[in-house]
Formats: sequence, C-alpha cells, structure tokens
Amino acid sequence: MANPFIIYTIHFFLTIHLLNVVANPKFGAMKENEKEIAGFSKLTKKDKIAWLAKNFLYANPVEIVKEFAEYWHDNIEAQKLLDGFSENTLTNFPVPFGIAPNFLINGQMYAVPMVTEESSVVAAASNAAKYWLSRGGFKAKVLSTKKVGQVHFIYTGNKEKLFRFFDTIKDDLKKGVKSITAKMEERGGGVVDMELIDFTELEKDYYQLRAYFETVDSMGANFINSCLEEFGKQLTEKIEKSVVFNDSEKDVEIIMCILSNFTPDCIVRAEVSCKVSELGTFDNSNITADEFAWRFERAVNIARIDPYRATTHNKGIMNGVDSVVIATGNDFRAVEACAHTYASKDGRYKSLSDCKVENGIFRFWIDLPIAVGTVGGLTSLHPLAKRSLELLGNPDAKRLMEIIASVGLSQNFAAIRSLTTTGIQAGHMKMHLTNILASMQANDNEVVQAKSFFADKTVSVSAVREFLEKIRSSLNPKTA
Ligand code: MEV
Repeated sequence: MANPFIIYTIHFFLTIHLLNVVANPKFGAMKENEKEIAGFSKLTKKDKIAWLAKNFLYANPVEIVKEFAEYWHDNIEAQKLLDGFSENTLTNFPVPFGIAPNFLINGQMYAVPMVTEESSVVAAASNAAKYWLSRGGFKAKVLSTKKVGQVHFIYTGNKEKLFRFFDTIKDDLKKGVKSITAKMEERGGGVVDMELIDFTELEKDYYQLRAYFETVDSMGANFINSCLEEFGKQLTEKIEKSVVFNDSEKDVEIIMCILSNFTPDCIVRAEVSCKVSELGTFDNSNITADEFAWRFERAVNIARIDPYRATTHNKGIMNGVDSVVIATGNDFRAVEACAHTYASKDGRYKSLSDCKVENGIFRFWIDLPIAVGTVGGLTSLHPLAKRSLELLGNPDAKRLMEIIASVGLSQNFAAIRSLTTTGIQAGHMKMHLTNILASMQANDNEVVQAKSFFADKTVSVSAVREFLEKIRSSLNPKTA
C-alpha cells in the first residue's frame, strides 16, 4: 500500500522510538508486561504502537512496528481521513475489494463492487449473475421505505389519560422537531407518523413512543436519533405543564431514545424466474432441469422449516449483501441485525428467500429489509465507498436496495445450485486452494503445479501441504 521509501523512513524512526521507549520508558512507572493504561487514546500513534509492542507484542516488537507501518497509506491526508473514521487507530486492515460483473437488474447492467475476505463469494455472485443474464436478469422493487425510532419511558399514572393526552399532542410533537426535519422535508422525508404503545404487561409502567420516519437517500440514524431525543424532552415537558395530570403522574422518566435497526417496512423484493425447461444443464452433474428445479425448491423449503439450515442459508445470502453494503460505506451490522430479526418475524427463524416451481415456471425471490443510504455518513467520506457508488451509477437509496437484494439472491442461488448438484466442496475448495497455497508461501511455479495437480482432486490443507513438501523435497533432496 505504502511507498517503500516512506515506509523505510517511518519504520526507521519508529524503531528508534520503540527502542528508546523500551530502554527508557516515558510511560511513568510502567512495569514490564503491565497491561493497564490510562489515556491510551491521547498517545500519539507512534507511542500507541510502542506501548503495544512493549506490553503485548514483545516477542518481536521491531517486526510488529514494521508490519503496522507497511499498511499505512503513503498519502498522509488519506491516512488522516481513515484514522478519523474510528478511534485508537494504529494502521489499516485491508480486505479485498472485488467486482461481480454481468448483473442485469431491472433491465440495467451493473458491475457490482464487493468487499469480502471470503473466497468464492465474488466468484459465486459473478457466476449467478451471468447465468441469469441470459434468462432475463433480476427484477427488484422496493416495497416500502419506512424507518423506526423509539422513545422508551416509564409513566406510573392513569393509562387512559396518557393515551388521550398523546392523541392531542401528536401534531405538536411533530411541529416541535421542525428545526431538525426542515431539510429532510425539502428532500421528501421527515416524520411520517407516531404511536403510543402500552408495554406495561411485560414491564411495569413501561410505555413506548414509536415514531416512523422517511429518510429518503440517507440511512438517517443521526436524524432519527435527534428527533427522538427532542420527542422525549417535549413529551416530559408537555406532561409536566398539563393540567390533565396530577402531581404524581407528572413524574415521567425517559429511559432512552434510539432508532430501531429492525425496519420491516423498509423492504425490497428481488426475484428471478424462467421456464423450468430453460434452466439448462449443471456442470459435472447428470441432473436435468426438472430435477434441478425440484431439488432447488426442496432445498429452499428445508431452510424455511429448519432454523439450523436457515441460519446457514441466510448466512450465504448475507455473504453477498454485506459485501456490497461494506463496499458502499454502509452499516453492515445494522443490515445483518435487521435481516435476522426479519427472518424470525413469524415466530420461527427461517429462510429469507423463497422458491416456487409451478406450471413449468421456476421462480426464486427474496424479501429483504435493508436500511442503507447513498448520501451522508461514510458513503461520501470514504474514497472507495464513493467510487463504488459511482460504479453503480450513483444510485438513490432505493436503487441501492434493489442492487443489494439482487446480489443477496444471486449468492443464495449460487450456493443452492452447488449444494443440490455437485456439492459445495468441489468448487469451494478449488477457490480455497489459492488461499492455502498463499498461507504456505507457495511460489508462482508451485501454484501452477498445485492448480494443475488438484484440478481433478479433493483439496484439503493436509493434501496441499503434502504436495508442496513433495515438490520442494524433489527440488532440494537434502531437506527431505
Ligand atoms: C458459505 O459461506 C455459505 C454457504 O454455506 C451458504 C449455504 O449453505 O447456503 C455455502
């Protein structure tokens, strides 16, 4: 990543610095192996690394320093930007950024950026995209885009009084956040609605103000949280000032105000379909199109009834979803959390995708709740997130939802196709072979030989090790 001269210079000064620290610590009375520290965040990056090298990575501190420095960006401004995204940063952690081309979604072609460390994920998406390209591509549609926020509070007074009062102040609460919502309203968003929910049967005196928002092209977390904190303040004030409540009822306790990452009404559907007779043939298996459709539908049904299979099935979907969510600078933890809650919405955890084979037509689809943005947050700050969005034609949030759901579906299609035909290991381990070879420091020549040797054999870590040992010892018999 970084230019060798800069790295050498930084490494040189860091090493000197580190040796000084180790010899003559400027960290007060710190003892060897002392692992507690106050004010770590205030140390310079050099001091942070030196402290870590001394206390946690002491086996080879100089090498560690070199390694951390190697992953720094050689552009100081770019590094500063990256450091600013998080806290206590020491270096960068690179993960591959790849492209899955040939995605036809709603009649438009995309080369989709995917950030993932897992081998086979990008290959599987690319493969499935190409397969569906000649069968009409993906059709995707956003069904709704409502987001949710909650003010959780305790009220010990009369319930009916609270509900009647809430109805009278709803509009005022909305007006009371005008200074926060004005800009969002200009863009077509804002507070859509709100309701009061009685949870007292589950938790003593606990009520919830649940508000619904439209955040257009932003993910909207800050916007929603600001509105909610204002709702909480105003709710307390309005009850305090009202003559409807007696003194003991006025004691409302706001517990917390925060958006919900469960957005079942921010949902997109993506689907593929074709005649069963057009499904084609399946490499390395004698399975016909009819058999494939039947096996595929069964596999999806299994994931709809068994949570053990559903978890793996959905994990495969999220392999694709997360890769695009990360590449576009969105919050993959939020998307993950929401997807799995949605998968359990009927009281049982099940597959996010569904399949029907009816009247000679194979139809495979997914309904996915995804709260993502294409403006604000990291989407416009991270240079590669910006580039990813550009690559996708600078989509609005709805179009990005459609792309992400299509990639999730493609990933799921590819996984089930392998699982129900050749089995996952054949293809998976072939892709994995590259990683195994890299972990064993295979040179270019060994990689070529290994790929040719394993073309028709099962790949395993031990088989690759044995193979490398054999070719290495044949070149250098003394080490055998
Ligand atoms: C591996 O990351 C994902 C799969 O296990 C998904 C699946 O089983 O459907 C292949």
